[in-house]
Amino acid sequence: MKTHEIRERFTQHFVNSGHEVVPSASLILDDPNLLFVNAGMVPFKPYFLGQQTPPFSQGLATSIQKCVRTLDIEEVGITTRHNTFFQMAGNFSFGQYFKEGAISNAWNLLTKDVEDGGFGLDPERLWVTVYLDDDEAAEIWRDKIGVPEKRIQRLGMEDNYWSMGVPGPCGPCSEIYYDRGSEYGKDGGPIADDNRYMEIWNLVFMQNERGEGTGKGDFEIVGELPKKNIDTGLGIERVACLLQGVDNVYETDLLRPVIDVAEELTGATYGEKATEQDNIRFRVVADHSRTGMMLILDGVTPGNEGRGYILRRLLRRIIRSAKLLGAEGPTMERFMNTVMDTMTPSYPEIADNRERILRVAINEEKAFLKTLESGTKLFDEAVEDLRSTHRAKTQKVLSGDKAFELHDTYGFPIDLTLEMAQEAGLDVDMDGFNAAMGEQRRRAKADNQAKKHGHTDLSLYRDWVDNNPTVFTGYEELVSGANVIGLVKDGQKVNEVHEGDEVEVILDHSPLYAESGGQMADRGRISAGESLLEVNDVQKIGKKLWVHKASVTAGGLDLGMSVEASVDEKWRHGATQAHSATHLIHAALRQVLGPTAVQAGSLNRPGYLRFDFNYTEQLSQEQMEEIALITNQAIDSNMAVNTIETSLEEAKAMGAMALFGENYGNQVRVVEIGGPFSIELCGGTHVGSSAEIGPVSVLGESSVGSGARRIEAYSGMDAFRYYSKETALVEGVSRELKVQSEELPERISQLSERLKAAEKEIEGLRKAQLTARASEIIDSATEVNGIKTITLQLPDGTSGGDLRTVATDIRNRMKDTAAVIVLGAVDKGKFPFIAAATGKAVDEGVKAGDIVKRLGEYVNGRGGGKPDMAQGSGTAPEGAQRGFEAVKDLLQSR
Ligand code: SER
Repeated sequence: MKTHEIRERFTQHFVNSGHEVVPSASLILDDPNLLFVNAGMVPFKPYFLGQQTPPFSQGLATSIQKCVRTLDIEEVGITTRHNTFFQMAGNFSFGQYFKEGAISNAWNLLTKDVEDGGFGLDPERLWVTVYLDDDEAAEIWRDKIGVPEKRIQRLGMEDNYWSMGVPGPCGPCSEIYYDRGSEYGKDGGPIADDNRYMEIWNLVFMQNERGEGTGKGDFEIVGELPKKNIDTGLGIERVACLLQGVDNVYETDLLRPVIDVAEELTGATYGEKATEQDNIRFRVVADHSRTGMMLILDGVTPGNEGRGYILRRLLRRIIRSAKLLGAEGPTMERFMNTVMDTMTPSYPEIADNRERILRVAINEEKAFLKTLESGTKLFDEAVEDLRSTHRAKTQKVLSGDKAFELHDTYGFPIDLTLEMAQEAGLDVDMDGFNAAMGEQRRRAKADNQAKKHGHTDLSLYRDWVDNNPTVFTGYEELVSGANVIGLVKDGQKVNEVHEGDEVEVILDHSPLYAESGGQMADRGRISAGESLLEVNDVQKIGKKLWVHKASVTAGGLDLGMSVEASVDEKWRHGATQAHSATHLIHAALRQVLGPTAVQAGSLNRPGYLRFDFNYTEQLSQEQMEEIALITNQAIDSNMAVNTIETSLEEAKAMGAMALFGENYGNQVRVVEIGGPFSIELCGGTHVGSSAEIGPVSVLGESSVGSGARRIEAYSGMDAFRYYSKETALVEGVSRELKVQSEELPERISQLSERLKAAEKEIEGLRKAQLTARASEIIDSATEVNGIKTITLQLPDGTSGGDLRTVATDIRNRMKDTAAVIVLGAVDKGKFPFIAAATGKAVDEGVKAGDIVKRLGEYVNGRGGGKPDMAQGSGTAPEGAQRGFEAVKDLLQSR
């Protein structure tokens, strides 16, 4: 049975019993505790916690969620069941059926005949586990389902009590395992062997809330959830592995084709005849190609931190594995194309993103193949160094720091370094490497801890979100009558607020736009009689509740009071202009760069906007000019702006662009500027027609992390002000240089040419002057113990480089005698100094290095060099004369 069919059977089974189908959320959800969605229940978390009411008519839902878990990355290919990307199929009950419903639903689907829409698994091969004291679940399995007692096993917190690993919903769980037969391991059920008995389905009886603590087993239960819920997760790839009769999850219909391509590209063979090490590499290529592809699909680009780092690591593991298997050239394009082909039936959106996905993956490959080269060079140099410094015949060891540098700077996985070291007959100091890695991990962990504390407790707002969501009136009007339905001060609900308080006001109606979709919140006022509050920010909670953050500047407010809420018109006008301008720039950008330039984020506030997009190359001046031109032409054409409320499918059919990582509801709002020119899903406020935007001045473009770029622009009057300022500046410069503005570029380049020539001339003259002084300096030499000695402080401003020129010149002229030249000068607050000795002086035992050391003691400086030339620098020029005397004493006592 193909994986795609397994998915469909699952969904159908649960639709038949009243579950509403929820599409998979993006892998990237805005949860400070998660890098990626790692379980089917993640998007449903607010419903379990009771922060929001589940929007499903029967309180039942089913989904097949894309998941990424990279904690087990080292296990990939070694065990038979670890995928970094997998599809978790689940059914969810919010306060409806509980243990019995979950258990019988799961059992039916697994054991129902294939002809009847089930998976047709042999019930005799199914084993289950329950939590230690969960007699209720054990009895259901035994008495209602008929699983014999000996195939029901009990396990503790670590295995059978599920939580997200961080504070949140949790509960005891029951897991279903499939016995793959004695050729896969020993008898004794899942507690004895979890390879032979493969876990396929986890049923979580979600009824508690977990507090702080560590890991899976050591945490506090802080209370009960408002309702008893069900969260289940079936591993689609594991079921596919069983139903397709293959050995492991890397050989199913979705991944095996990648292994085949890898065989073709590397010349190596997969399977029984190959070494285990090579087989693991094949599986890594297959697994990581899919995960990498799905991450790029959801908008991740390779980088050095967070999600980007994980993607980078996956892609580099693919490249390295392919190389170790024998690939000589690039391989990424074929791998990505293959896995895109296998995944498209279940994820049709891949089709629209093929080109972009390829581009990101191939660019990363190019970059790594480059660092692979420079890293190899660094490695070779380190080997060379070891060979020349360790003459003894002991075993040579590459330092842990070098191995870490290769890992950290050049992206070399440690096993690649180990392999290369082995070939060169070296060991690697793994303790040193691990210590450096440990230090890095410690820093990463500290970062994560810091992030966790950003978690706000939203349960305070739960009642309002459920029962009194705010009605937003701000698309139609800027002033609305409203009732105060909630007041919050210092994180507590209160009944009244007074002058001077900083508060949160919750209204049943509000015309103020709450920050979202990149548009900053409206500023405005809330007033009632003499009372006045200035609103500084508006945030949306649970997408439904408007929380106005305000300062009470006069009077006060009571709960239940009628008020008037008004938007600062000027603010709204500016924000609206900037937001519509953002849509135009987005459209222009795609016209110029093509559909691979995908929006990654934006911000707009009155007068200013910025727009981030995934694109790996710097934009040229011409491209920037074209984007600015198209944008302003669209404004000039006075295009109509329409907003349409419709279903998500309709909107997509219209070609509306949606943002990655955004979870849209079923009803969406489409904003259209000039018909097909720009169509986007957007909840923001917009101008009535494009000319209202006024001028837009594109400021420039820059990089924001690897693979993403940012365009910034001013809009409306701010664009005008920007242009006036620039014009005034240009006029000022023209006046100063006495040319017309159009002649400025040429004039400036002439001037800079002349400046360069003049500087060169001055430099030449200065050198000539110094050289001219040479004979004078030579005359000042005194004889110290048979050595002609010159000690001299040159004029202020003579640099270390100049000292060297003079000293070298004089030494040349005196090369037939035993002579020492010691010079110093005050330059930029420092005292550079130099000592040069002729060959004959060196023969007499003079060491320039010793001389600068001695001089250094008097000018608070240090230095060193070779016997014939040494340099240093100090900070106390006042000691120079005494230093020179000390140098002479040194020569005297030689
Ligand atoms: N949340 C549970 C898991 O991830 C079941 O969906 O295993």
